[in-house]
Amino acid sequence: MFILPKLPYDYAALEPTLSADTLHTHHDKHHKAYVDKTNELAQAAGLAGRPLEDVVREARRMNNAKLFNNAAQAWNHAFFWECMAPSGDAGPALPSGGLQDAIDKAFDGLDTLKGAFVEEGANHFGSGWAWLAAGSDGLKVLSTHDADDTLTRDGLFPLLVCDLWEHAYYLDYKNDRKTFLKRWLDEVANWKFAERQFAAANGKGDGFRYPAAQKDEAKDRRDAPGQDNRPQA
Ligand code: FE2
Repeated sequence: MFILPKLPYDYAALEPTLSADTLHTHHDKHHKAYVDKTNELAQAAGLAGRPLEDVVREARRMNNAKLFNNAAQAWNHAFFWECMAPSGDAGPALPSGGLQDAIDKAFDGLDTLKGAFVEEGANHFGSGWAWLAAGSDGLKVLSTHDADDTLTRDGLFPLLVCDLWEHAYYLDYKNDRKTFLKRWLDEVANWKFAERQFAAANGKGDGFRYPAAQKDEAKDRRDAPGQDNRPQA
């Protein structure tokens, strides 16, 4: 069974950029629904117990759209929570080291990258996700539709993602997605997480993986060889 990962910060920790109300609804309702549905559909597809990354890729390969949509959304949201962090009194930590160099090379600086990211997300039609990813020819900004993600795209390693679904920002920004994206990048984007992802993309350390499925110990006991499964008197 896949778990709903806890937020890596308090619900109010990203205020005023994102309200606790938004995070409660987004995490406790939207993300939970995707995880619950994934558990149900993965079981039906014979994929229970597999890592979520495998379930997403298998669902795409099997053309199982319902499972793909829910599993990819479960993964995207868990990744998205890590892509944000409360900024300290000195403001958010900025990219450094190899990531900073790669940003300078691909975008000619962080401000240009932010501008490209905001434009990509603001101009994306409908629901989806805005990504910063590492590719074989450097960093790139792209957007994907609905639940679509980078797991099923060869050669792309995700560094940051921002949720473009209205449920991500409507309570706080109404229909002003552009302001949401600007403030998201300036105030809560977690560049330290992006640096770890960038290192992993270059073979140093592990990239993000969805938290391991919880083992169903009661089922294991029932299925154990020699186990007396008769109902207790
Ligand atoms: Fe969302």
